[in-house]
Amino acid sequence: MTTLDSRTVAVGEDDRAAFRAGPVDEESRSRLADGGLEYRRVAVEGDDYPSWLQSVARGFQDGERSAEQIAASRERSGYRRLTGVYDPQAPVADAPVATIASWLGELSVPGDAVIPSCAISAVTVAPTHRRRGVARAMLEGELRAAHAAGVPMAMLTVSESPLYGRYGFAPAAAGAEWRIETKRAAWIGPRPGGRVDFVSRERVRELLPVLHERVRPSVAGEIDVPGSHWDGFAGTNPAAEKTGEKRAVQYADADGEVRGAAVYAVRENHEDFTKATVDVHYLLAETDDAYAALWRFLLELDLVAEVHASQLSVDEPLLWMIADQRAAKVTVRDHQYVRILDVVASLETRRYGGAGTLVLDVSDPLGIAAGRYLLEVDESGAGRVRSLGSETVDAVTVALGVTELSATYLGGVSLATLAAAGRVTVTDAAAESSVNALAMATSVLGWHTAPRLSIWY
Ligand SMILES: CC(C)(COP(=O)(O)OP(=O)(O)OC[C@H]1O[C@@H](n2cnc3c(N)ncnc32)[C@H](O)[C@@H]1OP(=O)(O)O)[C@@H](O)C(=O)NCCC(=O)NCCS
Repeated sequence: MTTLDSRTVAVGEDDRAAFRAGPVDEESRSRLADGGLEYRRVAVEGDDYPSWLQSVARGFQDGERSAEQIAASRERSGYRRLTGVYDPQAPVADAPVATIASWLGELSVPGDAVIPSCAISAVTVAPTHRRRGVARAMLEGELRAAHAAGVPMAMLTVSESPLYGRYGFAPAAAGAEWRIETKRAAWIGPRPGGRVDFVSRERVRELLPVLHERVRPSVAGEIDVPGSHWDGFAGTNPAAEKTGEKRAVQYADADGEVRGAAVYAVRENHEDFTKATVDVHYLLAETDDAYAALWRFLLELDLVAEVHASQLSVDEPLLWMIADQRAAKVTVRDHQYVRILDVVASLETRRYGGAGTLVLDVSDPLGIAAGRYLLEVDESGAGRVRSLGSETVDAVTVALGVTELSATYLGGVSLATLAAAGRVTVTDAAAESSVNALAMATSVLGWHTAPRLSIWY
């Protein structure tokens, strides 16, 4: 991993390959072996890949994958480290009874920086082997393996909320789902110059990753998106269904520079042709003008009554671009989960919302990040962190679990809210009231824009 400046560490191809090739965690391997199960890596290019993929599909209650789908998935999965748990006693012993995939990616953090992060995906345990600790062994195993490889952070998105807090993960960037009644909304936002044009799916497949690379460092919570996802959004995966429904547009500014793109599909309403629904699959805007132009385009489509979009931020400017805010029904859900593995490296990478000094007394159910740390943030928002051991320091102390520290990491969860929920304790030995201490600590750990993540992975 290469240090670009004091805070940004870019993940190179060599780092990614080394991470993929790393061994499975010995503690988990031995625990699973005690239960008669074999825990091993699976090669994407090898003979075990099709049955591994079929086990993932079955684990998510999905149908069997076709040969074409397996080939397309194999071609796009080279970036992943795959692991399976096998039961030699099972009648179909070559189909894993549990699966997990991970890869070394980059997570954007407050302050235009990125941090190397272990992304975890495809966690499944067969219904025949559930609730006997197999998922726990795999999750703990991948976290220990990532930590041993020097990766400071882990991240995932979830099918169910209660699964991952026990391993130290916290939802740090919420996702907002919007349903907008277009006729009622009425556009009052800017009407920038430039132009919106239809483009082919192949063209938008080229555009999205380029635009995303420009946008993602400044949006905490975003990750470097694997190429297979762009195929999914653009409808250019040859094994995907209903790609013909997808429409793509780009926005070019007054100088002709492409600054944004959107992919959407229209669902007709057969009872009333004036009331179709638009599903926005992806919208990416590099500038405020691109944002306004693309949303206005979508909200003013003829024959459309509702626009539906997910994985938006909880603080979208769009709310202030429509005349009737109640035209938008917004549902907020936990979305991007993060888990700090290395407290010093993680906290030194992000920027902070205010100056101040905090002692962080961190507990960790897996022991990985536990300890006492001194965080000193200067006026520029840069933080210096060091491990304190048993040394005492006269500063405001925040006692919290690694889950709660991870929740605050992207600046989208307020420490004051966690304190009110009884999840953290803030004490200031020198002060009579802990209110100012809490206000200071909350401002230090906060950030001025809400984090977001525009994909599932
Ligand atoms: C979720 C899943 C992976 C759990 O696998 P599992 O092997 O049964 O889990 P484990 O036996 O290791 O359980 C580990 C812990 O999680 C808890 N847990 C497991 N599934 C849970 C669920 N659905 N809801 C709440 N808690 C759950 C267990 O009670 C256990 O708690 P504890 O160790 O703190 O006492 C499995 O049920 C599955 O494959 N589900 C369908 C696919 C899916 O949703 N995967 C997750 C993708 S993000």
